[in-house]
Amino acid sequence: MSNLEQTLSIIKPDAVERNLENEIKNIFLENKFKIIKDKKIHITKAEAEEFYKVHQTKPFYNDLCSYLSSGPIVVMILEKEDAILGNRKIMGATDPKKADEGTIRKKFGISIDKNSVHGSDSIENAKIEINFFFKD
Ligand code: CMP
Repeated sequence: MSNLEQTLSIIKPDAVERNLENEIKNIFLENKFKIIKDKKIHITKAEAEEFYKVHQTKPFYNDLCSYLSSGPIVVMILEKEDAILGNRKIMGATDPKKADEGTIRKKFGISIDKNSVHGSDSIENAKIEINFFFKD
């Protein structure tokens, strides 16, 4: 049964700063994701706080929001069958040290904070996150 999904992907400041945007986009394209929309933006800390509000009770929330707003990011809508799970597989575990060989975070991640990419974790959050960056 067809299960076409869209998910939100972010190339985080550590990866944009190292000019990894095209390399990471190519990994998605090689894995048959369509990049439906993309834009490079630099968000404010208040916007990062709104985006990551599901984490607001976590001890790392403040650092996380400072970090996401510390430099340019690339936000993308990715589309594929089962895109949400597929993206999470390609990204690898949140902590690059624990990520499987061949995943984006294993390849490019520096630390649990500077882990190069973000991806939506559920259908519900994918809708919220896509709407956050692409309201039109
Ligand atoms: P991301 O997938 O963007 O979602 C929330 C982010 O919080 C996560 O990636 C990590 O970069 C960051 N983070 C920092 N510390 C932790 C932690 N202890 N557990 C989970 N995520 C963390």
